[in-house]
Amino acid sequence: MKAGYSPGLEGVIAGETSISTVGKKGKGLTYRGYSIADLAKHACFEEVAHLLIRGRLPDRNELTAYRQRLTDLRGLPVELKSILEKLPAKSHPMDVLRTGCSALGAIEPEREAPDMYYAAERLLASFPSMLLFWRHFHLSGRRIETASNEEGVAGHFLHLLHGNSPEELRRRAVDVSLILYAEHEFNASTFSARVTTSTMSDFYSAATSAIGTLRGPLHGGANEEAMRLINRFATADEAEQGIRELLAEKKKIMGFGHRVYKEMDPRSPIIQEWSRKLAEVSNNMLLYRVSERIEETMLSEKGLFPNLDFYSASAYHLCGIPTEMFTPVFVFARIAGWSAHIIEQRSLNRIFRPVAEYTGPEPRAYVPLEER
Ligand code: COA
Repeated sequence: MKAGYSPGLEGVIAGETSISTVGKKGKGLTYRGYSIADLAKHACFEEVAHLLIRGRLPDRNELTAYRQRLTDLRGLPVELKSILEKLPAKSHPMDVLRTGCSALGAIEPEREAPDMYYAAERLLASFPSMLLFWRHFHLSGRRIETASNEEGVAGHFLHLLHGNSPEELRRRAVDVSLILYAEHEFNASTFSARVTTSTMSDFYSAATSAIGTLRGPLHGGANEEAMRLINRFATADEAEQGIRELLAEKKKIMGFGHRVYKEMDPRSPIIQEWSRKLAEVSNNMLLYRVSERIEETMLSEKGLFPNLDFYSASAYHLCGIPTEMFTPVFVFARIAGWSAHIIEQRSLNRIFRPVAEYTGPEPRAYVPLEER
């Protein structure tokens, strides 16, 4: 392999950032210097979004104003609602969000935005509205009011999904998961947002690129695949047997492994603890026990640890979130990180334009059509 070539850009430093550290010696996972454990324990998601997008933690008054600003941005323009109505009922929710994001960029173009944060905060506030407007319209023909007064993105989403105020434990579980999912340095979707931004394209185009990139099962789609896997097993013993068989067939187990973390994903024990709490209050330990056994089997068979997606699956399921909405919830969170990166890329921009190692034919003479 040619010097300087790294498939999948593994280990390549592709830019500078002051937003987060991932797996750095002596730092671990931090958002603007704050450890993920502290943020998940003490902060709410809107505080973290403010930290990432605006660069610092808000004080109490700023947080109240920020939450109000996001609450005020939950409504959808009529043109967007009519596009969402036209999407098929069988669409994947990620396709709905990707389309909704792109359409919003046409209906409310960034050049008309009141300030540099508007597009970020409009998307933070309105992604749950887009998804649930589409879902209820296609489930029951109802055009729901999306501008709920429920506090926070987690509460807004669960309220629109279930039609009532969420229980505190479930609301906080989703809130914490949004904090954990909010940012992760130069992962594929964030890199994709930065590449689009580097051409001086607009905010909505960058976010649309990122959603398309997040959708795949090797990235954000892993939480849905993990749930489908866990659901296949009726007991922990069955799970152990099933995982051994899948590994023997050289299948990848979604929710395990990571490009950067080779020992432990620091987000995993935090969401695992929430999954356990939710299982206990639901009086339904099966999913949790199956998940634990899959974790043990993966460790003993492959030396692989769960990433954030694995225990998020059972936690989301126990919050009553349909499996096909797991990756969209990732979008509700990661738009905070994408936004921070879009703003940062603009501030120190250089267009991304790497080079390729050519593996095609040697130069050759063109063959006229009639001689082929
Ligand atoms: N299940 C089974 N084996 C796995 C695995 C998994 N989830 N993840 C990695 N491995 C194995 C690979 O098969 C490979 O084994 P080999 O050397 O015998 O071929 C080795 O571990 C290295 O994996 P590789 O896919 O080359 O690592 P990567 O850095 O390119 O990929 C991921 C990282 C995250 C894409 C990869 O671990 C994966 O596909 N995980 C499942 C999807 C997932 O959970 N994604 C969410 C990430 S947050």
